[in-house]
Amino acid sequence: MCKTIAFLLLFNNMKKRLLSGVKPTGAPHIGNYFGAMRQFVDLQDEYESFVMIADYHALNFIHNKQEMEKNILDVTLDYLGIGIDPEKVIIFKQSDISAHTELAWIFDTITTMPYLMRAHAYKDAEAKNAEINVGTFNYPMLMAADILLYDPEIVPVGSDQKQHVEYARDTAQKFNKIYGDTFILPKELIMKDVATIPGTDGQKMSKSYKNTIPLFGTDEEIKKAVMGIVTDSKTPEEPKNPDECNIFALHKLFLQGEQLQNLRDKYSKGGMSYKESKEMLFEEILALVKPMRERREMYRNNIDTVKEILNKGKEKAKSIADTKMNIIRSNIGVNI
Ligand code: TYM
Repeated sequence: MCKTIAFLLLFNNMKKRLLSGVKPTGAPHIGNYFGAMRQFVDLQDEYESFVMIADYHALNFIHNKQEMEKNILDVTLDYLGIGIDPEKVIIFKQSDISAHTELAWIFDTITTMPYLMRAHAYKDAEAKNAEINVGTFNYPMLMAADILLYDPEIVPVGSDQKQHVEYARDTAQKFNKIYGDTFILPKELIMKDVATIPGTDGQKMSKSYKNTIPLFGTDEEIKKAVMGIVTDSKTPEEPKNPDECNIFALHKLFLQGEQLQNLRDKYSKGGMSYKESKEMLFEEILALVKPMRERREMYRNNIDTVKEILNKGKEKAKSIADTKMNIIRSNIGVNI
């Protein structure tokens, strides 16, 4: 028995690590789900997983106590609802582990402003002439700290976060060069077919473009979003090109093989309206989310259990982050 446990522990220790997170800035959408969150579930047996609620990143966008509290709990419920098993995955709040902000500061001291000015998010904000707060400017360093504290091999994300993971990797390299080997170099895991999920207008699905389909919306909210998908004005009878259709692009997330081919044929033949295609898509989304909703609801009715999960996650993440932080402090010469 003891030998079995020892073997299991050893086996567990050999598992590679994964870390990722979602900002609690509003209801996650199906772009977040297919682009990243689903991978957290699919990989939870294979990897020792750390899944964060990136609340300090969200603080760049939300300055309201009630909204922040609600969003944090909602994202936690969403994680549990989609099937992340809290017995397998360390689910934790970024703000619970102060090493994240401490390490971000240390990274600030080896990072130049021109380097951060090349970040897409910064350039986008600048192009909009927005007043950019320091937190937004510094965003990549906090994200580098989130990642590097836990030595993960992979960081599952959508393609919009690729550059941020590259920043983390560059920063690890830079730190290692100055202070000696301290961090492993993480890699983004971006699934090819779902790297950028399009929204209802065909652009990348994003809360800021208001083109999302909410993952845990009500039937009415999901239906409204789906029925609002932008199409051309072809009549039901006319043949349609599936590869130019925003609805079809989303069907591809739900249908495979023969089913997808049948729909493709229906498009090309003509005789199917966009309305019919949208109604089909609505049913496909419901079939995915219904069991998830039930699980989410179960946790929502047991909010103490959810808080307990976050507390346990905090303890586990903290012990790993504190150990790493000790090494970092020692390597930079402040542990005397
Ligand atoms: P966030 O909260 O904007 O998005 C969460 C995840 O969803 C992915 N995603 C998409 N994937 C495909 N198509 C889309 N349309 C789409 N929209 C969003 C994002 O790429 C992301 O993987 N900075 C991060 C949160 C974060 C983080 C981290 C992630 C903070 N620290 C450390 C990984 C590791 C963010 O704002 O994601």
